[in-house]
Amino acid sequence: MQPVKAPTLSAHGAEMPSVGYGTMLYPEPARAVELIVHALNAGYRHIDTARKYGSEQWVGEAIRASGVPRDELWVSTKVTEENAKADDFARSVDTSLKTLGLDYVDQLLIHWPQPAVPLEETLGALAKAKTDGLTRHVGVSNFTVALVDEAVAKCSEPIITNQIEYHAYIRQDKVLAACARHGVIVTCHVPLARGQLLNDPVINEIAAAHDKTAAQVALRFLVQQPQVAVVPRALEFSEIDEDIDLFDFELSDEEMSRIGALRDRNLRVVNPPVRSPQWDEG
Ligand SMILES: NC(=O)c1ccc[n+]([C@@H]2O[C@H](COP(=O)([O-])OP(=O)(O)OC[C@H]3O[C@@H](n4cnc5c(N)ncnc54)[C@H](OP(=O)(O)O)[C@@H]3O)[C@@H](O)[C@H]2O)c1
Repeated sequence: MQPVKAPTLSAHGAEMPSVGYGTMLYPEPARAVELIVHALNAGYRHIDTARKYGSEQWVGEAIRASGVPRDELWVSTKVTEENAKADDFARSVDTSLKTLGLDYVDQLLIHWPQPAVPLEETLGALAKAKTDGLTRHVGVSNFTVALVDEAVAKCSEPIITNQIEYHAYIRQDKVLAACARHGVIVTCHVPLARGQLLNDPVINEIAAAHDKTAAQVALRFLVQQPQVAVVPRALEFSEIDEDIDLFDFELSDEEMSRIGALRDRNLRVVNPPVRSPQWDEG
């Protein structure tokens, strides 16, 4: 397959590739580097990692093995809620860069909100990572409407993304509207609901009509929405290839509405009781 170039999304001077390769949960760590190298060869220029995933080292190794020039890449990592205090946050960023073997990342996210630490403190540490040159852009993850509003108001650097669970089985209209109001890109994690929507009859019927797979239709449904990016994870070369090959077809308004109606299921896949904020419903 020829490498696919995913279009970029613009936010506050950033140009984020709209399809990233997710690197969470590798059941066979020994294969991680070859899978990430394959993603880079397939055209992915956005790699989504996090301190919590344990995949930063493999991402760094894969980047070096691929030979893709650093300035063509969008590397995103995250600081967990356990490191929300300023000193801990700075140490976490330092460890991420050392583990990745990079001087800077393109995007640094607060992975989860931490109610026990004032948000101003964590935002201050996030902004400092940018002004110190350790990241080109900053953002948040798993933030609700109220938290996005607060982060935008209190961060001295522009928030460019909120990485949240969004897919064809969950309605996220309120948080999408809040992000749009602030010019913040929505990056969808678990965009395939961890595979749960791949057997959906509506998605499969639409996929057959376009000679595409269910995964491609489910991902296309997301990237066809304004300012929406996706970071799927796949462990098969052919699936990695499929998941970026989304830009040679278009869903009709009627198809978008039919898939959009599936969101009433409100299936939330990522909802850890220790970390989750009070989610916005609908
Ligand atoms: N910010 C956060 O709190 C947060 C939380 C969760 C995830 N994330 C990010 O989001 C990324 C994606 O989430 P995820 O991996 O949990 O879920 P996902 O991308 O929704 O789904 C992954 C599942 O879909 C399957 N799949 C992928 N492409 C496919 C294709 N073309 N055909 C058939 N099956 C396909 C995979 O199968 P195989 O395993 O067999 O390949 C896997 O079981 C993570 O890697 C991580 O980077 C962020």
